[in-house]
Amino acid sequence: MKRQLPQVGELKNLLRFDPPTLDRRAARLSKATDVTDLRKMAKRRTPKPAFDYVDGAAMREATHDETRAAFRDMRFVPNILRGADNVSLGATIAGGESALPFGIAPTGFTRFMHAEGEDAGAAAAAAAGVPFGLSTMGTRSIEEVAAANGNGRRWFQLYMWKERERNLDIMQRAAAAGFDTLLVTVDTPVAGKRLRDERNGMRIPPRLTAGTIVDAAWRPEWWFNFLTTEPVTFASLTSTTGTLRHLINDMFDPGLNFEDLKWIRSQWEGPLFVKGVVTPEDARKVLDLGADGIEVSSHGGRQLDQMINPLRALENIRAEVGDDVEIIYDSGVLSGADVATALALGADFVLVGRAYLYGLMAGGREGVDKVIELLTAELTNTMQLLGVERPSEISRDHVMTPWD
Ligand code: GLV
Repeated sequence: MKRQLPQVGELKNLLRFDPPTLDRRAARLSKATDVTDLRKMAKRRTPKPAFDYVDGAAMREATHDETRAAFRDMRFVPNILRGADNVSLGATIAGGESALPFGIAPTGFTRFMHAEGEDAGAAAAAAAGVPFGLSTMGTRSIEEVAAANGNGRRWFQLYMWKERERNLDIMQRAAAAGFDTLLVTVDTPVAGKRLRDERNGMRIPPRLTAGTIVDAAWRPEWWFNFLTTEPVTFASLTSTTGTLRHLINDMFDPGLNFEDLKWIRSQWEGPLFVKGVVTPEDARKVLDLGADGIEVSSHGGRQLDQMINPLRALENIRAEVGDDVEIIYDSGVLSGADVATALALGADFVLVGRAYLYGLMAGGREGVDKVIELLTAELTNTMQLLGVERPSEISRDHVMTPWD
């Protein structure tokens, strides 16, 4: 083998050192190649009870694990030579536009994950041109989120209360603050049993025990932010201290039924989606009661464990309602390929909860931007490799499921 001296010019090209940057958050986030990397950063930076609240699910976490396994075991079936150089990710959903076929799911207790909380999500969503969902258990008020979201699109997630007046009040405030769509969550007659939260003694506000103080030593930035920003207030919860199950159960009414949904429908003028539907019969029923669309969800596996895989539910419901009814899917989506899979199985639009929160915990607002950027790039790449240019062109033929 003939050798030669390395050319200095070529070496310089190979050894490209990034200049040191002063912005540590940006430097950290730039290293994330996918949401799994962000999750690792989130775990290191967030107190265990808050991280586990997001990362965990109900009971044995079987539904969550199975959904993730199903996403992993999906097989794409690409078409070749379709000319996919002009990808456009825009979608219409719930009577409006979204720049991407996914948006930010409503999540509870968000400011415990990171002090920037909903402000970060609402601002990042607006910048990306996608809807932001505010949860009834959110930690910023309806009006604060509207201000952070500016000209963005915002949706309000409602847990129906026992007292109708309270539902009315909150729906009126949401409508007045420009929330255009209502997601009515119906899979929560009682709170799911989340063992990690029980083990961690997850309480609002967090208690300063010996354990939390040790934890704080390893996560100084979280604690500094938590202690030096204004105290957490809730979008709409009344009692604001206690264990999470206590807070949640205080609010829910296991006696709610279709009549209550009918009443909510009569009080909300904009688009209304029912969130947490998993059977074709229930989908048909809520559409008959006047819902504009369905949100198929296992609540991220956080309610009834060992329930039907929501991806199978999605497929079944699409088969039942036909092409004209809008379906949103959420649960277990951590990548652009997962978004593509959900679209292939019948969703028109996807909401991401955990992925957004991993980004938030990893780096506040910029972390959320990073999640949107990663999912967008991954989805674009998947679509080009599948040979499609529009989300609506992703069809059932583009995936083989583990149950095919
Ligand atoms: C609330 O909706 C939760 O899943 O914790």
